[in-house]
Amino acid sequence: MQIVHVISDLPHPANQTVGFVPTMGGFHEGHLSLMRTAKAECGFVVASLFVNPTQFGAGEDFERYPRNLERDAEMAQAAGVDILFAPTTDEMYPRRGTTIHVPAVTTLWEGASRPGHFEGVATIVCKLFNVVRPNVAYFGLKDLQQCLVISRMTADLNLPVTVSLQPTVRESDGLALSSRNMYLTESERAIAPELQRQLISSALALKDNNLSSEEVEVQLRHAKSSLEAVGFRVDYFELIDLSSTHSTHSAKEGSALIAAAYLGKTRLIDNIIL
Ligand code: PAJ
Repeated sequence: MQIVHVISDLPHPANQTVGFVPTMGGFHEGHLSLMRTAKAECGFVVASLFVNPTQFGAGEDFERYPRNLERDAEMAQAAGVDILFAPTTDEMYPRRGTTIHVPAVTTLWEGASRPGHFEGVATIVCKLFNVVRPNVAYFGLKDLQQCLVISRMTADLNLPVTVSLQPTVRESDGLALSSRNMYLTESERAIAPELQRQLISSALALKDNNLSSEEVEVQLRHAKSSLEAVGFRVDYFELIDLSSTHSTHSAKEGSALIAAAYLGKTRLIDNIIL
């Protein structure tokens, strides 16, 4: 594996399918499984490691985000990555430049709580697509709304990249792997899997039961208060329609439950596709 820091050093192998895994580092099994899938499906795999300042809001964890290139490089190499692209901020943002605004889906849920976040994500992912020039790019469904934003941007701008969405990797107790899990105290970590449990039990309650809007609303409120009762501060717990990317009150195929909740200062997100 080669580590590349500047855009002009990135290779573009002509006769191979290039798979791409954009990341911000702090690798865990979620990142590594994307890399392994890319390696299984593509001849040549590029992963990027860039803690993108434009997607962090004021007071978020940009400064304390995990940074350890040596450790991450070893893990990426073992997962089959051919090129690890780790640019500096100046390399990616030589000036305050053009940004990408994806409408509608960026202002809801995560976007409502984190203004500007998805503009930062869309802009850096578009730039990375342009410098890496992949055939297939891999993203984790753990960040479901990010998947919707990137799919939408890729379609709207006719970017010549196939977006491949991959399942969420979890701890044995169901907690979705996340770089932010390390911020949890021992007692918060013990409560954390309850987020996925509530998503599963709500999904079961909603599925196949032909519930009215009011009954769906009651179920969502019940899930929220159950989470609050064990110590979460719930930001949102919503049923959404994946094709229209709006909230819905009808649980059918193609809908998903999405949730964000704080444990102490740590914000956890998770989802389940119905
Ligand atoms: P990061 O949080 O490092 O995540 C990189 C990729 O790993 C994303 O596609 C994310 O959805 C995926 N991922 C994270 N946890 C996962 C899990 N438990 N299971 C499966 N996949 C998981 O997401 C970003 O970085 C950034 O926003 C980025 C797209 C790189 C743009 O800066």
